[in-house]
Amino acid sequence: MRKTFIAGNWKMNMTNLEAEKFIMGLGDSYKNKNNCEVAVCPPVTALLSVKKLIDKYSIDVKLGAQNMFYESSGAFTGEVSPGMIKELGAEYIIIGHSERRKYFGETNEIVNRKMSAAFKSGLKPIMCIGESLDIRESGRAEKFVLNQLIECLAGINEKNISGVTIAYEPIWAIGTGKTATSKDANEMCKAIRGRIGDLYYKDISEAVRIQYGGSVKPSNISELMSMTDIDGALVGGASIKVDDFISIINY
Ligand code: PGA
Repeated sequence: MRKTFIAGNWKMNMTNLEAEKFIMGLGDSYKNKNNCEVAVCPPVTALLSVKKLIDKYSIDVKLGAQNMFYESSGAFTGEVSPGMIKELGAEYIIIGHSERRKYFGETNEIVNRKMSAAFKSGLKPIMCIGESLDIRESGRAEKFVLNQLIECLAGINEKNISGVTIAYEPIWAIGTGKTATSKDANEMCKAIRGRIGDLYYKDISEAVRIQYGGSVKPSNISELMSMTDIDGALVGGASIKVDDFISIINY
């Protein structure tokens, strides 16, 4: 009943022109045999041109952004507001990616403020949580991730929660080529779903989509997607290669 959701996080890759070329290439060979929901999240500089091309050529791909600030306007040099992103045609917004946490000091509290701001402007969040290798090796991964979940969702009401996608991304698996075993990834996704059930209702937790992210590629996607509690993937490196991204969509 949960529709599979594959999203590509391009990170700080592709100029506007490169993004246009990529989308034209994607459109040329696009297939979606599983009928999953697909989104691309280009850098903010390419959002508008990507949106225009997916509309013009009716490519069955949605648009997301990788980051935004939580204020709607004002003296915040260099920041981009939720409304600005929405106006460019984005439907999704990645919030709390581990790279934002690591390089830009984003805390659970900031993630939580961004979550509220996303709902206010009508953007659908893809909220990222995940543990470091140290935490995993010390056996505290589940406790850590569930605490991130609780703090990032503080005050988010039940009307909004069902529209949230959670991306479970173990930091040690991002961009490293190491994937969590599908069993470990599924266990964490199951624990996340269970905690959402405790915080809200079981029905709500059954509707929330939970993606896995971290070195997802054509060779591991089918196994990950066969797991009961993994409803899709947030794909980094492999999402900026047309062939790989198409293979992942058609796992
Ligand atoms: P990766 O990145 O697929 O390159 O590991 C995933 C992500 O950071 O969202």
